[in-house]
Amino acid sequence: MVFSDCSSATTARFLPFNRSRLPADSAVNIGRVVGPLQWRLPNPVSLQARSTLAVHSWSSPSLVINATMGTGTSAKVIDGKAVAKQIRDEITAEVSRMKDAIGIVPGLAVILVGDRKDSATYVHNKKKACESVGIKSFEVRLPEDSSKQEVHNHIAGFNEDPSVHGILVQLPLPSHMNEQSVLNAVSIEKDVDGFHPLNIGRLAMRGREPLFVPCTPKGCIELLHRYGINIKGKRAVVIGRSNIVGMPAALLLQREDATISIVHSRTPNPEDITRQADIIISAVGQPNMVRENWIKPGAVIIDVGINPVEDAKSPRGYRLVGDVCYEEACKVASAVTPVPGGVGPMTIAMLLSNTLSSAKRLHNFK
Ligand code: GUN
Repeated sequence: MVFSDCSSATTARFLPFNRSRLPADSAVNIGRVVGPLQWRLPNPVSLQARSTLAVHSWSSPSLVINATMGTGTSAKVIDGKAVAKQIRDEITAEVSRMKDAIGIVPGLAVILVGDRKDSATYVHNKKKACESVGIKSFEVRLPEDSSKQEVHNHIAGFNEDPSVHGILVQLPLPSHMNEQSVLNAVSIEKDVDGFHPLNIGRLAMRGREPLFVPCTPKGCIELLHRYGINIKGKRAVVIGRSNIVGMPAALLLQREDATISIVHSRTPNPEDITRQADIIISAVGQPNMVRENWIKPGAVIIDVGINPVEDAKSPRGYRLVGDVCYEEACKVASAVTPVPGGVGPMTIAMLLSNTLSSAKRLHNFK
């Protein structure tokens, strides 16, 4: 199926969903992807003049750059790459302080089942990121036809291993495996992905604290915090309801006292709802779905989508775009995350952060 790109400069075609070509930091295009036909895609409309409603205080001015995409653009760029680098530097210092003080090095175990190229790339990047901050990584690679029992045996081993403080089972699992029972087997105290139902349940309940929060949504909120963007009392809309991003992102925003709505593939006229939002988090894996008429002037946009679209001008034959039409968002929003370089780098930074917190908690190190 061919769609026109939202950029006037190019006419891109959506790449067929080809997992082996996905980039290393794609957070959305992994689980269930909502097919384009399930969404009502409105024609772009010209938008009212940009308002001056946004009065965010920007706490990290050095990280804020003016968007320069074409004329009339004025949104700030939320630079996830720079924030992630800052966080990784902080983690490096903490890992070293912990090692010097109590001789403990945080450890992360990753289990990869099957031979999906994209999953192998993610796991490789996680391992490299661990090395870069001084976290020890353990890796188990199992063939596609492994039994559920083999996976459970490895999880049980890591649950017992005192040098492992975080356990991550790379998703998706082969179809013959029951994801729920595998995720349930990870010790809640080492569940650095935050996918254990007890952690998600605590996230959903007032007055309860999860031990871990899923990495991508945590990265979205961290970006808002580090840019001094007020969440309390704001209207926030999350586009997408996946277990990995959309659902936990909505729960997190609610915990931050936002008034939340979730828009999904069965929502009629989603743009009527998103247009009311002060903050939009989009995580659907649909290239350029969110157009300027979906966005309230002055809104803050966090784009989790990382979607490859064909681009004959790129040496790779494709380029990456978000769920949000970046050029149009720049005209109407007050701040927007780019793709790539927005949420993507934050996911791994949050995984490292969760692993460090776990090691500190398990060793009672302040
Ligand atoms: N697959 C896509 N995103 C994730 C993630 O955050 N954690 C795991 N374990 N698998 C994933």
